[in-house]
Amino acid sequence: MITVTDLRKVYRQGERDVVALDGVTLSVPKGSVHGIIGHSGAGKSTLVRCLTLLDRPTSGSVAIAGQELANVSDRDLLAARRRIGMVFQHANLLDSRTTAQNVAFPLELVGTPRKRVAERVAELLQLVGLDRFADAYPAQLSGGQRQRVGIARALATDPDVLLCDEPTSALDPQTTDEILALIKDLRDRLQLTVLIITHEMHVVKRACDSVSLLEAGKIVEHGSLAEVVGRLGGRLSGALLPLPGEVPEDLPAGTVLELLYSGEHAVEPVISGIARRFDTDVNVLAGSVESLGGEQFAHLRIHLPAGADTAAITDHLKASGIAVAAKEA
Ligand SMILES: Nc1ncnc2c1ncn2[C@@H]1O[C@H](COP(=O)(O)OP(=O)(O)O)[C@@H](O)[C@H]1O
Ligand SMILES: [Mg+2]
Repeated sequence: MITVTDLRKVYRQGERDVVALDGVTLSVPKGSVHGIIGHSGAGKSTLVRCLTLLDRPTSGSVAIAGQELANVSDRDLLAARRRIGMVFQHANLLDSRTTAQNVAFPLELVGTPRKRVAERVAELLQLVGLDRFADAYPAQLSGGQRQRVGIARALATDPDVLLCDEPTSALDPQTTDEILALIKDLRDRLQLTVLIITHEMHVVKRACDSVSLLEAGKIVEHGSLAEVVGRLGGRLSGALLPLPGEVPEDLPAGTVLELLYSGEHAVEPVISGIARRFDTDVNVLAGSVESLGGEQFAHLRIHLPAGADTAAITDHLKASGIAVAAKEA
């Protein structure tokens, strides 16, 4: 469990203050994967540094598995950091060390007996699917394999929390999906609490149970994946389930509606239901249907001809639990 409360970080840049984190509050339950998405400069790296106390927050608190980090002494900080595994964009491996030696490194740092190191390394390489590459050097591995080594190394000291800063930003799409699947699999097997920092919506779609949108140091939207997708007109909804194309300019007179709904309503019955019940044509202009956060979602843009009872149709849809927003055609 990660709990961040009203976290602020202000940097002094010459004469002026830069507010990098402006009151961030966040809670990630044990065993879940939370995504922090934001553009460059939003404060993502600052948040990572404050979570590991590489940077001291200006105010606010960070607790990992119930332990408040701000209060711990420098000596206890090392022990506290061991409970957080870090995965970086570039695996940051030591080039002169083999896969096994890279994974062994954090164990050697804490003085683990050699026999135990060897056992633990073998276990970890098995876990990330690299047991056949124990003696390979980083230069002999693919980008995805290097990131697997990075993940095994992050897990060496058996942390409660895995903190991933842009873990797939340097990887191709297929390898990205493999690494995200591995992170989710490890979460399941080890009951890890995972925080993934990313600028890619695809990562949120593929890996996250919940998400926060970070903008100028503030969380401006957050929720479970299904919650944020279900908010028609919301920024995350628009980015996670976008409609292709723009509204055509040469539409006949009428009304354009956007609909968003989940689960039990299939697309066809909703459309044919309106057509039958209100005796009108319905033209589907664009649509996206996808399974997100374990729920099926449909996002549609439809056109109703002039003369259709738009108000009654809108009321009917809303009463059926479908989110509706009108756009004048
Ligand atoms: N050490 C620092 N000194 C001064 N300003 C900083 C420092 N680190 C980050 N900042 C500023 O804080 C803001 C957030 O930066 P950062 O956390 O790196 O964003 P992100 O990782 O989302 O791109 C930026 O405006 C950046 O210029
Ligand atoms: Mg950054």
